[in-house]
Amino acid sequence: MAQIVGFISQKGGVGKSTLARGLSREAAKGGLNVKLADLDTQQGTSVDWYRRRLDSGALPVFSVESFKTASQALRSADQLDMLLLDGPARASSATLEIAQAATLVVQPSGASVDDLRPAILVFHELVKAGIPKDRLCFALCRIGTDAEEADSRSYIEQAGYMTLQGSLPERPSYRQASNAGLSITETRYPQLNLRADTLIQSMVDKLNG
Ligand SMILES: Nc1ncnc2c1ncn2[C@@H]1O[C@H](COP(=O)(O)OP(=O)(O)OP(=O)(O)O)[C@@H](O)[C@H]1O
Ligand SMILES: [Mg+2]
Repeated sequence: MAQIVGFISQKGGVGKSTLARGLSREAAKGGLNVKLADLDTQQGTSVDWYRRRLDSGALPVFSVESFKTASQALRSADQLDMLLLDGPARASSATLEIAQAATLVVQPSGASVDDLRPAILVFHELVKAGIPKDRLCFALCRIGTDAEEADSRSYIEQAGYMTLQGSLPERPSYRQASNAGLSITETRYPQLNLRADTLIQSMVDKLNG
């Protein structure tokens, strides 16, 4: 049975695809049979990214495929060790479907209350719909300073949710890596790769713990 990780958010552009690609790469590198399901058929950014990855010759290769719904993606999960559900830009009925399928639901968020508050409301909605709280976690993305990270973490904790260890700083190099079909653990800067790897490893620990 594959581990299923869902990436959802209230707002668009928060880092769902960025994190999903990073976890896919690290899991595949660790020898797992991985598929990244791009559930945004309108944008298809992860499918496009994977085309760039194949062109770049980066290893390891894994599978990235476009699906209309989470349940369609699940049907292709038989032979997999890990299925990642990269959700559509905004919260919708697809969000609940992803959360129902997932063993771990990751919601990236920036540090401002403008970002955090609506994100917490999405998790409240999922809990109300029956998703166990311990399957939900936040990933802090586009963080500026350690103090900002600490403030965001305590804001989320006060709302009753978990935050993954580590955080992703806002850096053009992460975008450049993405432009070249690479993941956030494959930038030119070991320090940035390590930051990304800490956050991703925290997802793996949650899945295994
Ligand atoms: N930490 C970061 N530093 C710099 N750029 C980042 C960072 N995280 C994400 N980005 C960039 O921000 C943009 C949005 O990120 P991404 O596509 O991962 O978000 P998303 O939540 O999947 O968006 P959508 O809702 O449209 O699917 C991308 O161009 C990505 O490269
Ligand atoms: Mg996306």
